[in-house]
Amino acid sequence: MIFSIIVLAAGKGTRMHSEKPKVFHEVGNLPMIYHVFYTSLSLNPKSLVTVLSQDLIPFKKDILQKFKKIEFVEQKKQLGTADAVKSALINKSLKKTDITIILYGDTPLVSRKTILDGLSKFKLNALDLCVLSMVPKNNKNFYGRLETEGKKLLNIVEYLDASSEQKKIKLCNSGIMLVKTKYLLEKIKEIKNNNKKKEFYLTDLVEIFNKAGLNVGYHQCNYEETLGVNDKKELSLVEKKFQKIMRNKFLKSGVTMIDPSTVFLSYDTSIGKDVIIYPNVCIGKNVKIGNNIKIKAFSHIENSEIRDNVEIGPFARTRDEVILEKGVKVGNFVEIKKSKIKKDVKISHLSYLGDSEIGNKTNIGAGAITCNFDGKKKHKTIVGDNCFIGSNTSLIAPIKVKENSIIGAGTAIDKDIPTGTVVYRKSELVRKNKKKK
Ligand code: UD1
Ligand code: CA
Repeated sequence: MIFSIIVLAAGKGTRMHSEKPKVFHEVGNLPMIYHVFYTSLSLNPKSLVTVLSQDLIPFKKDILQKFKKIEFVEQKKQLGTADAVKSALINKSLKKTDITIILYGDTPLVSRKTILDGLSKFKLNALDLCVLSMVPKNNKNFYGRLETEGKKLLNIVEYLDASSEQKKIKLCNSGIMLVKTKYLLEKIKEIKNNNKKKEFYLTDLVEIFNKAGLNVGYHQCNYEETLGVNDKKELSLVEKKFQKIMRNKFLKSGVTMIDPSTVFLSYDTSIGKDVIIYPNVCIGKNVKIGNNIKIKAFSHIENSEIRDNVEIGPFARTRDEVILEKGVKVGNFVEIKKSKIKKDVKISHLSYLGDSEIGNKTNIGAGAITCNFDGKKKHKTIVGDNCFIGSNTSLIAPIKVKENSIIGAGTAIDKDIPTGTVVYRKSELVRKNKKKK
């Protein structure tokens, strides 16, 4: 059976109290809706249609840059989940598929396996509609409640419209639905908005299908996977769960973490073999970590490639396209930005290197910095192989220090230095006896 996917993302997201549309808030440094797109595409649907509101239209370009296969429809007014699905159903290829799977842009952790399990059950039990259900940890939640009879799903009541008895039901609606497209097209027209919110609820399909004698069931899945985000508290819960998933993935693949609960990873983090991560380490977007590496406590690494046998931290920061080649050592209170640090370089303490290239085996002394910004523009610093840059050196860019040179401590350099040069500033140290009073 051929299936398509609809991702609903047009909701107002008022409870986020943010200028940014809800589904673009990030989990593991990736917009929530991109998680849903990755999972959806991994299932290889016939078509993938996402429903956007007007304020999300400007994001179309960004989405298409990353995900070529996605089609869009605009929901003019946010009249509810059924209205959103209705707008998607104008898509021609969607109409031709046997099954439509409905996912939410604000429910990013649903796994490929869960959807496939739902799909298996749908086929096995010859269902016309299948809702993925879950049981939240505590009953103080606002999810829709499922009324069931054995394997049959009779009705879904939204929390706001539920009686106090119905609110006690533990089985809830994850929001994910699998439905035979031909009945969806037919029955969605029957949904009305006579409820407290005056919205067209997709969940009303359950009762309508039952009345028409169609086969409606449910498939229970893991609650944490179906966590939906409506406000910042829920966003933090989803982030927490995502971090747990990522840490477990890396622990399983052999990464050592002294205190995993304090290590933060991104959706695209990659880590090799024999890597030790100490407590309180943050790994941002686009980080590749090679083999045999120590990342010591309180380090913050973003957009960086860390090659084999490197040691970083404690308290180090790398960002904006940094490459640390093999055998590099970056010590405490060192910040490196947009720089290529070649093999076996040591930058052991208190340095800032920005827009630079540092040659093989060079030693950068404590407190040495690049002055890369003149107030208007950024400039490059290039240091050759085997140099010794003394403590508290200021490298005033643009500047080149050629290989095998030595810069004496406390020197401000503003001219290029030829190969094999020793540089220091000659200003005498004055020593005098104190005058007696
Ligand atoms: C919905 C379900 C509820 C379920 C819960 C799970 C309905 C009526 N209720 O409630 O049973 O327990 O999800 O998280 O379906 N959206 C649109 N257009 C709209 C309205 C919503 O695209 O006009 C999108 C939102 O962007 C969101 C999704 O649909 O991705 C769900 O909408 P939301 O308003 O968050 O529904 P809930 O009240 O959470
Ligand atoms: Ca929601």
